[in-house]
Amino acid sequence: MSDYDFDQPIDRTHSSSFKWEHYRDRPIIPLWIADMDFQSPPELRDALKTRIDHGVFGYTKTPEALKEVFVERMASLYGWRVEPRWLVWLPGLVVALNVACRVLERHKQEVVTFTPIYPPFLTAPHFSERRLVTVPLAKVGDRYEIDLDFFRASISSQTGLLLLCSPHNPVGRVFEEEALRQVAEICIERDIIVCSDEVHCDLILDPLTHFPTAKLDEAFESQSITLMSPSKTFNLPGLNCAVAIIPDPKLRRRFDAVCQGIVPHCNLMGFEAALAAYRHGEPWRLALLDYLRGNRDLLESRIEKIPGLSMTHVQATYLAWIDTRDLNLKHPQRFFEQAGVGLSDGRQFDGAGYVRLNFGCTRETLKEALRRIEKAVRER
Ligand SMILES: Cc1ncc(COP(=O)(O)O)c(C=O)c1O
Repeated sequence: MSDYDFDQPIDRTHSSSFKWEHYRDRPIIPLWIADMDFQSPPELRDALKTRIDHGVFGYTKTPEALKEVFVERMASLYGWRVEPRWLVWLPGLVVALNVACRVLERHKQEVVTFTPIYPPFLTAPHFSERRLVTVPLAKVGDRYEIDLDFFRASISSQTGLLLLCSPHNPVGRVFEEEALRQVAEICIERDIIVCSDEVHCDLILDPLTHFPTAKLDEAFESQSITLMSPSKTFNLPGLNCAVAIIPDPKLRRRFDAVCQGIVPHCNLMGFEAALAAYRHGEPWRLALLDYLRGNRDLLESRIEKIPGLSMTHVQATYLAWIDTRDLNLKHPQRFFEQAGVGLSDGRQFDGAGYVRLNFGCTRETLKEALRRIEKAVRER
């Protein structure tokens, strides 16, 4: 029995939540944007209260203690030796994806990514006036794999950046070391920077270990940008605190230069929350993983029984990528919305015919959403 009550419903209406305001006053369960309906760990909330009581909210440097705790965390959880000077703290990772596209040299105009993918991976290259090249993930049995031949064939002399998502949103895949090594070898050979977004790395539900792509070898470290953040794990994306890990000083300087005068510092509450979460949040995180595992198992077993719907096994994240194509729906997202469940539209991820379901909610909420989905499909 967990010390934390993830079954406790928290009213998020009237809290300016993107997720909940979208369906304000409509009887639709919001299971779209990727935040969870749970309160963050109690120690984190206490740390914020203490900071509020201090009452002075001036310009704030990155706390040294946060750098130390983060470096220790990388070593203890992932066996990755990170130097504090490699860390660039940022108010978010979408910012980092866009900055990464802008560090490319003039002759490197193309950005590759594996689809389906979290939508900012698709828009960042355009915002940065780079060309986007997409490489579909290959579905092999019950899992998605990186199609190395397709990847190789998609690279040109202009390819400068791979935007990688590991673990992967939306397909929930934890890529193995070997697959990442093969990707890295291609990138080393073709002089491609890899920006590896690992924001979901603390949310692995299966007995698997996250492998930070940049850990592969030193040669590769020099062309890597790794993105991490406490925001998904501890449910604090509204506090805007994230970090890019850039071992190579030249690349880090280029990244910093793009940020100059445009990207603001992190919010001091974000720093406080990150520090408290990393220091004290481990028991909460482990309990959360248990709860999410329960939600995932329930979801997979119920979706499997709905004719016309299917999903691959979710190894990590609280996001499920559901294939609706056998139902031949004109607009799957709208269909489920009309049935009272607000999902993300697969087209935004370059995955027409799919919807993404966020199961970071109470078990009761998930059960009710499933009842509505089952009924809608049955009565269609
Ligand atoms: C892979 C990935 N990167 C980045 C983000 C968002 O990061 P941020 O809120 O720090 O901009 C998300 C949110 O869902 C995500 O799934």
